[in-house]
Amino acid sequence: MIRHASDPDSGELARKRAAVAGLYEGVQAVLSPMAGVTDLVFRAVCREHGADLTFCEFVSADGVVHGNDATRELMELGPDEHPVGIQLFGADPASLAEAARAAADLGPDIIDLNFGCPVRKIVKRNGGSALLCNLPLMDEIVRAVVAATDIPVTAKIRLGWSDGSVNYMETTRMLEEAGACAITIHGRTREQKFSGSADWGPIGEVKAAATVPIIGNGDVFSGADYLRLRAETGCDAVMIARAAIGNPFIFDEITAAMNGAPWQPPAVDRVVTTLLDHMQREIALKGPRTGLNRMKRHFASYLRGYPRVAELRKAVFASNDIPTIRSAFEDYRSAHAGIQIESAAPAGETVS
Ligand SMILES: Cc1cc2nc3c(=O)[nH]c(=O)nc-3n(C[C@H](O)[C@H](O)[C@H](O)COP(=O)(O)O)c2cc1C
Repeated sequence: MIRHASDPDSGELARKRAAVAGLYEGVQAVLSPMAGVTDLVFRAVCREHGADLTFCEFVSADGVVHGNDATRELMELGPDEHPVGIQLFGADPASLAEAARAAADLGPDIIDLNFGCPVRKIVKRNGGSALLCNLPLMDEIVRAVVAATDIPVTAKIRLGWSDGSVNYMETTRMLEEAGACAITIHGRTREQKFSGSADWGPIGEVKAAATVPIIGNGDVFSGADYLRLRAETGCDAVMIARAAIGNPFIFDEITAAMNGAPWQPPAVDRVVTTLLDHMQREIALKGPRTGLNRMKRHFASYLRGYPRVAELRKAVFASNDIPTIRSAFEDYRSAHAGIQIESAAPAGETVS
């Protein structure tokens, strides 16, 4: 067979694929890449609760290439942080290849390419889900990144741009041929953004045809959802996004579900202790201002479903004084020690 110059080297690709297949053998639940959420601290917190693989927030390839410090900071990994993936987005193959080389120097286990982001700012510049409408360019990007680095490359997609242009089978086939070592599928189109419910049928269809690990994603908010997604699709692992915000316990819940053990959300004491520890580490890493802003993303979700939180919520959102916020949580913990709930309301957070 004559190999095209841009075909991934088959021996090298086989090595990368074996590495990723081996990695996913030990992976059940994955913490999704989430912009503004999955920083170094939150990834560590989720790992401590049972996330088997975590991803950094997505990183602009152009930002990396232009030496933007804030962008490079997003790729910072912990000293023993494995397995972990760095996700890149962009639309220029050369820039993505250069960014992948910079990312590879930091030692991730995976470099993931974002082909699913629905946010207008990204799509306008032909990145994220816009590439679902331009498979030749997506193909070029994957080949360029695969050729640029020794680290295995994976991809994350949606079902297509819209109901009228669903193309997940064609996209996943192309991704495999271009050298992707695993594919995550969010069961929505770009036009759906976060509306309606995720369609898991296509994840099963792709899994039945694929030769690389397929990771299912979309609307997993409980251990029962996790088991259902795996059973209905046969996917190799499940990626969790919104359910993890302010709720690293989702990974404990999934572990319990896998073991057939009963699950009850943690008592107030454990929730507040986890939140305060998370806050402390976030502030130590990012400084008081950014650390607190990051935590405000999580506060409401940590407390969702627990009794009499309205006043506490008001107090912590009104203040930027860390000792005041800490005391408010400590007082709540003392007043409600031991209180448990049956199940938290499902998370409903979305991005544009
Ligand atoms: C706040 C937020 C930020 C996100 N950022 C990213 C991102 O950086 N990269 C990415 O591939 N997906 C991102 N997503 C999408 C999620 O990874 C995931 O595909 C989507 O939320 C569906 O999964 P879920 O139902 O478990 O939330 C983000 C989602 C949210 C809610």
